[in-house]
Parts: sequence; structure tokens; C-alpha cells
Amino acid sequence: MSTEANEQASSEPEYAAQTKAIGSVVYFSSVSQNTARFIANCELNKLGMNVYRLPLRRSDPALHIHEPYVLVVPTYGGGNPKKAVPMQVKQFLNDPANRMWIRGVIASGNTNFGEAYCAAGDTISAKCHIPYLYRFELMGTPEDVQAVQRGLVKFFADLEAGKVDVPGMQEAIKANEQRALVH
Ligand SMILES: Cc1cc2nc3c(=O)[nH]c(=O)nc-3n(C[C@H](O)[C@H](O)[C@H](O)COP(=O)(O)O)c2cc1C
Repeated sequence: MSTEANEQASSEPEYAAQTKAIGSVVYFSSVSQNTARFIANCELNKLGMNVYRLPLRRSDPALHIHEPYVLVVPTYGGGNPKKAVPMQVKQFLNDPANRMWIRGVIASGNTNFGEAYCAAGDTISAKCHIPYLYRFELMGTPEDVQAVQRGLVKFFADLEAGKVDVPGMQEAIKANEQRALVH
């Protein structure tokens, strides 16, 4: 079954890198579109990132990623950290072919939720063994936009230089090379 998943073609980015690609960002945003607005304000494609949007509805085509990415995820637990990760994001990460390329997570939320503020980032960081890079409220401030722009450029440079230790990364690269050989 996993080979079947591996054979899925990569999805098209919503915003394609305008310069040599340094890395990718995958994000989810519901109908309230806060995260979508934040992502649009970041203009990450101008900094060399491919940006992919996760589908909102089951009937939309699924997203398939075969490159290292940072996930940007809003929290949807209604105050319960155990339910913090949106169903659409869980579905995406439950596919091992997608999960093996996650390198970091950025979460958003609303401080009204107290202890559960941005809890989706804690859950995904712990489950996927990847760093929790940043969190922001609602659609973020101009300072958040700048921090994420600078932070992601540095993070992908560190990743490329082997300065970020992500368990399973070497295996993922090897698996991808093998897949490329088969095709
Ligand atoms: C039903 C619902 C549950 C939410 N639960 C949480 C929560 O547990 N923790 C949190 O920090 N924010 C929570 N939020 C706030 C959202 O994460 C926030 O509004 C976010 O910006 C939504 O992003 P989106 O508009 O891109 O979907 C919740 C929002 C809704 C509508």
C-alpha cells in the first residue's frame, strides 16, 4: 500500500517559488481564511518557497508532497489540546508519503483558548519529532510576518547545511531517490 502512496504525483503549489527553490510550506486554512491571509502576506514564493494549500473538503483533490516542508496549521480543538489538529491536517499527515517530508511546524490560534493556545503545534511537533518553530495569533501581525519570513529562510539554509537534526530525514531522502530511480 505504501508504494501505491509513494507513486502519487506531486501536487501543484498555490504559489510557486519565483527563484531557485529553497524549501516548501504546506498550510491549512478553513473558511475563516486567517491562515490564508497570513500566508499571502508572507509572500514566501518571492523568497524561494513553494507554497501548497491543503484541501478543505473531502471532495477536493488530496495533496501529495515529495519535498521537505514546514507545516503551518491553525488550532481547532475548541480548548481541548487532544483535538487541536484539524481533521484535514491529520488526514494529510496520516499518509506516510507526506509525513516523511515534514521538517518543522508553525501553529496559529487564539489566546482566548488559554492553555490550548496553538496546541496543534505541540501535538504535531511531538508526534512527528520535528521542531516547533513559531506560533502566531489569528492572521498574525506585521512582526509575525517578518519573523516567519526570516525564520524560514534561515531554517531551510540550516537544513541544507545539515545543521538541523531531523530523525528519519536521511531515510526519507534515500527512499525518494529510490522512487526516482523506479520512475
Ligand atoms: C471551532 C474553533 C475551535 C478553535 N479552537 C482553538 C484552540 O483550541 N486553540 C487555539 O489557540 N485556537 C483555537 N481556535 C482559533 C483558530 O485557531 C483561529 O481562529 C485561526 O486563526 C483559524 O485559522 P483559519 O481561519 O485559517 O482556519 C478555534 C477556532 C474555532 C472556530
